[in-house]
Amino acid sequence: MLRVVVCVSGGGTNLQAIIDGIAQGAVCQTEIVRVISNNPGAYALERAKQAGIEGVCVSPKDYENRSLFEAALLQCVKEAAPDLIVLAGFMVKAPDEMVRQFENRIINIHPSLIPAFCGTGYYGLRVHEAALARGVKITGATVHFVNDGMDTGPIIMQKAVKVRDGDTPETLQKRVMEEAEWVLLPWCINLIAAGQIRVENGRVTIAE
Ligand code: GAR
Repeated sequence: MLRVVVCVSGGGTNLQAIIDGIAQGAVCQTEIVRVISNNPGAYALERAKQAGIEGVCVSPKDYENRSLFEAALLQCVKEAAPDLIVLAGFMVKAPDEMVRQFENRIINIHPSLIPAFCGTGYYGLRVHEAALARGVKITGATVHFVNDGMDTGPIIMQKAVKVRDGDTPETLQKRVMEEAEWVLLPWCINLIAAGQIRVENGRVTIAE
């Protein structure tokens, strides 16, 4: 069994896609052992509860400084003894120490085709606002391993989504989620659980 910790900040639709993927058998040999949110009000915590998964909040507001928060977050992750950490709409940069201790065992979903519209300041709706402002015709989502940079780790999988005339950031976000994110993330976790994903020299290969 692949033990997975999912880190969230908001609505948790990507978390839900993983929960549903496991329930429906599309994601095999995988168990979500803990959901961690930095935001006590995250609806994702409610989704975890409804699925019978332990949900824990580690909020930066409860700590005197960033390094104490990061230490508490890492501690909370390690208590659950995960094989894989999934950042599913987690609006906190993974602490360097966590990245070091879980090298190539942390994945993130980003709502664009990296390297477009990624890095500092590009998260959530802002990504889609930037894509529409630039007038791109195709956008999408990316699942990648997390390294010490911002959205710079090895890319595992990407899926393109067409931009439509009249799209708003909200309609585009919804379509990128439905057509790309909720498909890619469970798929990647299933491949990792099956041992089919390898990282070599910063490049990912997927075994058939
Ligand atoms: C998703 O679109 C995810 O790709 C994005 O936040 C949203 C979370 O939605 N993540 C980032 O922007 C990370 N840089 P959810 O809480 O409903 O899964």
